[in-house]
Amino acid sequence: MSSILFVCLGNICRSPTAEAVFRARAAAAGLLDLHIDSAGTGSWHVGEPPDPRAIAAGAARGYALDGLRGREITVGDFDRFAHILVMDRKNMMKVNGLAPNAHGASVRLFLDYAGLQGAEVPDPYLGEADAFDAVLDMIERASDGLIAALKSPGQAARS
Ligand code: 4NP
Repeated sequence: MSSILFVCLGNICRSPTAEAVFRARAAAAGLLDLHIDSAGTGSWHVGEPPDPRAIAAGAARGYALDGLRGREITVGDFDRFAHILVMDRKNMMKVNGLAPNAHGASVRLFLDYAGLQGAEVPDPYLGEADAFDAVLDMIERASDGLIAALKSPGQAARS
């Protein structure tokens, strides 16, 4: 079984969106044996549901975010997850700073899997209402790229 952790800052907008979108699209693509989760590098929203705007934008496309709850990334996540997908470079630096010296996880920017090397999923928290739709567009594209990579491990060798 492979395991995937999505990481952003607050774990109430981007990474729970990625968790719900990837879970739905991976299942639809026949990838059923996956452990999928999300976490934030910050602790402000631990135990909280996702931002209502993220829940609404996801629901409009058929993705269920409402049952998710915020948590903070832990050192143990680097051993529990094979893939850690981070939404932006600032949080990538935080994730790398937390990583133990030796671990088995592949840590990448999520949009690398959308064919957008080095690109970031922008934080929609203080953005306009349509920022959540733009985030969904990016996350759907990267999810399909990650699904393709997981289905053909030769391709995934770009890690
Ligand atoms: P996220 O968005 O990292 O996509 O969950 C944010 C949510 C909350 C905060 C920042 C970003 N905040 O500062 O509380």
